[in-house]
Amino acid sequence: MIIAVDGPAGAGKSTVAKLLAKRLGFLYIDTGAMYRALTLKVIENAIEPSDTERVIEVARSTRIELVPTVDGPATVLLDGRDVSRAIREPRITQSVSIIAKISRVREVMVAIQRSLGNTQSCVLDGRDIGTVVFPRADKKFFIDAAFDERVRRRHQDLINLGVIGVSKDAVAADLANRDTIDSTRKVAPLKVADDALVIDTTAMTIEQVVARMFEYTRQ
Ligand code: DC
Repeated sequence: MIIAVDGPAGAGKSTVAKLLAKRLGFLYIDTGAMYRALTLKVIENAIEPSDTERVIEVARSTRIELVPTVDGPATVLLDGRDVSRAIREPRITQSVSIIAKISRVREVMVAIQRSLGNTQSCVLDGRDIGTVVFPRADKKFFIDAAFDERVRRRHQDLINLGVIGVSKDAVAADLANRDTIDSTRKVAPLKVADDALVIDTTAMTIEQVVARMFEYTRQ
């Protein structure tokens, strides 16, 4: 069984997708982490994210793995190295959308995502899961929230990660920029799948969102 969870940055997708997967006993796959890991490698190799040909070469020669942990987020391995923390840094967040809009990069990532999803029941979160990666997913969700609330949540995420000194204004500018790039790109733009259940989480608790998703999945 495949459950697709899409939506914009900061809407709470990964939090609820992870909890839903746990409740169902399914594997949770954070597809954004894969684009982030590739972005880290590109930056570490001093390649400009706009240098499409070189970025594609890196994508094709990189091993990205998501290793489930018992009770926390999956460990993200980049060519065997644990980069779970490094991929959340602001320098990655700033460049990831540029890399994620390259169609041949997406082909590589989508192939990995499909091979994971074809062997076991999973909950995948991303931008294009219900529209492109698994258009025939058993259940599809689009998790959204008001812009200001998304900014507040992302800002809090950074504080929780120990990233200090990033202002709310900077988070807002980054989110607005990523929203624009993610939803206007030519390949697999962020959009609501026709058959997705849209949940506006602005005024909902995490528990309420997960309960609603669980109920809908069981129907
Ligand atoms: O969910 P996130 O913030 O970790 O995602 C990082 C970026 O990766 C996001 O700006 C868009 C991109 N992304 C994508 O294009 N397709 C996906 N399935 C997941 C993420």
